[in-house]
Amino acid sequence: MRRRKIWILLIVLLAVGSGIFFVMISGPSIAERNLEGLKGDAKRGSYIARLAGCIACHTNSKAGGGFLAGGAPIKTPFGTFFAPNITSHPDDGIGKWSLQDFSRAVTAGLRPDGAHYFPVFLYPNYTRMSDQDITDLWVAMKTVPPVSGKAPDHQVSFPFNQRFLLGGWKTLFFSPGVYKTDPTKSDILNRGKYIVNGPAHCVACHSPINAFGGRDFGHELEGNSNGPNGEKVPAINAKSLKKNGWTKADIVFALRTAATPKGDALGGTMGEVIRDSTAWLSDSDLQAIAEYLMSK
Ligand code: HEC
Ligand code: HEC
Repeated sequence: MRRRKIWILLIVLLAVGSGIFFVMISGPSIAERNLEGLKGDAKRGSYIARLAGCIACHTNSKAGGGFLAGGAPIKTPFGTFFAPNITSHPDDGIGKWSLQDFSRAVTAGLRPDGAHYFPVFLYPNYTRMSDQDITDLWVAMKTVPPVSGKAPDHQVSFPFNQRFLLGGWKTLFFSPGVYKTDPTKSDILNRGKYIVNGPAHCVACHSPINAFGGRDFGHELEGNSNGPNGEKVPAINAKSLKKNGWTKADIVFALRTAATPKGDALGGTMGEVIRDSTAWLSDSDLQAIAEYLMSK
């Protein structure tokens, strides 16, 4: 009798365990977006590519690489990643992809064959982009001239190189879905919050991350002592910015020119973010960023 109970218990445990295991490796189920009928605007899409930093990661400008033809090494605590060729080249780039393939990659972190992408490709942020943003971005991507050649393979050690484990990572740390406007906040604050947490992913560098590379929820914008390339990334919430003498106008000016109120220049990866992304943004978007940071 006792033995039977133990067997039943074991079978139940095994079933629950494999259920959990299945959820862990398959990842959260993410609703497909319905992008049918949307018409993209290439000009708006190129602006979003700037805003979202796609160009900075996917172009190896230091080595004179082609536009979006594959990036420079990105050093993380888990190893070194190389952003792939995302030109319209049919074999080495994404020339054979559909809008739906593109949307699943950028907003759900899924490869066309269903494998998971590493979150160093910032889909946890990009998932906040609207259907129209994704469609505009795609139309702009299709205008990128094909360049041949693939980026090198990632150099990431076991077990972090196992894509199937990313299903578990996503279950724990990835919350898919478009940005939800907060009706109690002004348009400018909503726009700022959307930019900082969504496409411009300021939050990805400026927040602490845990041992699994997941967001340390509740500590957004409080800085990261071990950021990309091992850099120390300062806090950019209102408290720290004010303590360091920043005003909203200073933030806008720094995001345009890299010059700080103390007369220094922002460097490291922030210098690249400014050069390739924020320097190109509209005044109203830079104002929205400053407004939101100073409210946090
Ligand atoms: C921080 C660097 C970084 C940024 C910013 C970035 N990517 Fe990537 N991207 C990567 C890396 C690294 C990969 C490879 C991920 C993997 O192998 O799992 C990738 C993969 C991709 C892929 C899949 C390509 C393939 O062949 O499977 C697409 C498409 C893509 N990125 C588009 C974009 C777009 C569009 C943007 C801007 C909205 C963007 N990326 C911004 C680093 C980045
Ligand atoms: C790739 C990582 C990365 C991203 C993305 C990033 N930053 Fe930074 N940021 C840094 C680093 C590193 C520094 C420190 C630069 C230095 O000291 O020269 C910094 C510094 C700053 C500072 C100066 C803070 C101070 O007190 O000195 C501000 C303001 C800032 N970032 C705003 C932003 C905003 C707004 C965004 C999004 C549009 C953003 N950052 C995106 C890495 C990043």
